[in-house]
Amino acid sequence: MSKLIIRGGSRLQGEAEIQGAKNSVLPILAAALLTAGQVELRGCPRLRDVDASIHILRDLGCEARWEGENILLIDTRSLSGCSVSERLMREMRSSAIFLGAILARCGQAELSYPGGCELGPRPIDLHLSGLRDLGAEIDDRGGVLHCKALRLRGREIVLSLPSVGATENLMLAACGTSGVTTIANAAREPEIVDLQNFLIACGAKVSGAGSSTVSVEGGSPLHGCTYTVMPDRIVAATYLCAAASAGGKIFLRGAKEQHLSTVTAVLREAGCSLRSDETGIVCTCRERPAATRPVRTAPYPGFPTDAQAILMAALLKSRGATVFEENLFASRYRHVDELARMGADIRVSGRVAVVTGVETLHGAPVRCTDLRGGAALCVAALAAEGETSVREITHIDRGYEDLARDLRLLGADIIRTDH
Ligand code: EPZ
Repeated sequence: MSKLIIRGGSRLQGEAEIQGAKNSVLPILAAALLTAGQVELRGCPRLRDVDASIHILRDLGCEARWEGENILLIDTRSLSGCSVSERLMREMRSSAIFLGAILARCGQAELSYPGGCELGPRPIDLHLSGLRDLGAEIDDRGGVLHCKALRLRGREIVLSLPSVGATENLMLAACGTSGVTTIANAAREPEIVDLQNFLIACGAKVSGAGSSTVSVEGGSPLHGCTYTVMPDRIVAATYLCAAASAGGKIFLRGAKEQHLSTVTAVLREAGCSLRSDETGIVCTCRERPAATRPVRTAPYPGFPTDAQAILMAALLKSRGATVFEENLFASRYRHVDELARMGADIRVSGRVAVVTGVETLHGAPVRCTDLRGGAALCVAALAAEGETSVREITHIDRGYEDLARDLRLLGADIIRTDH
């Protein structure tokens, strides 16, 4: 069972390249089902969730193979199926993203309900109601979604909340409709803009991504393209929080501050100095971080829920107390008990967690509870005295191509052991 062994106490000093964005590449891999031609995806991160998407594409009869370190070649012309097995659906929670694309391509789809996950229930009611608005018949029997969409037609859809996955699923399904679809109250995440840019590169008529209303004019056949995935803003936020936690000066090549401005605003308030340009972000953290104003997670452009745990970890030795409010997921404080094993002082009550800075953290054996909670343990371990061993790191491998490699490049004392 692989583990990460981290010796805390050393300040960071170094440079790392930010990998392609997991939450952009996953919907783009589903979108590839809409194209008749080869897709060359550059800057594609090697992640467990990308592997799971490749397994689904291959299971559907499509070709997907790596060429070089981070180039993935996909050709879905050989698609021969329209159902995704329960095993594959359970491999990755966000596999529901394939539903809209399979429906648009095949006129039918059969997927088992995606599993819940460590963050709590992960309903897809908004995905399903939007697809029904477009004309899909969806029969939810025995945990399997039997879907028919012989004629998808463009419609006005209003989402009751700006769901990232539902926005993406409906954008893809809308590409297979006749007519124009508008998605109101759409999610505005940068990854949705990346998906729009990919679809446009394939010949689709999509506009409005990044705003609350996305429009898709369906019906045009899509061709292949060569596309470079945007940098992962949550990975960049992780490394910025690592610098805030351990102190030091780092350069994150490829990071785009405009994608994580709510995170950098809090880090500046905590006392870090950040300078960014088109090449990336330089972050210098000289002394113990200061506590900050309350951190409330919200849909983009609000503070990203995916950065909540990692920022919390960076503030464990801050001067003062910081209030966190997690508004997106019901169970996104599972990392708190593990951080407490390292001496953190965190009080949780419902959606609110209060982090009071302590003088010392000490290394301890801890286990990952989920993807970003696992990354938070590593951020905290950098500021702890002694050695921390982090186990169950397959959670981390879902979203970080090589966390140990990158943190070592930034000056951390961290190794990955496979026993
Ligand atoms: C995406 O998940 C991301 N995953 C998540 O990142 C991220 O935390 C989340 O967006 C919010 O930003 C990917 O992009 C692959 P949502 P998604 O639909 O699409 C509720 C990570 O760490 N909801 O915006 O599942 C839902 O329960 C992962 O990289 C419904 O009620 O998020 C949640 O409370 C974790 N019904 C809220 O909306 C629905 O039909 C936001 O969910 C859909 C969602």
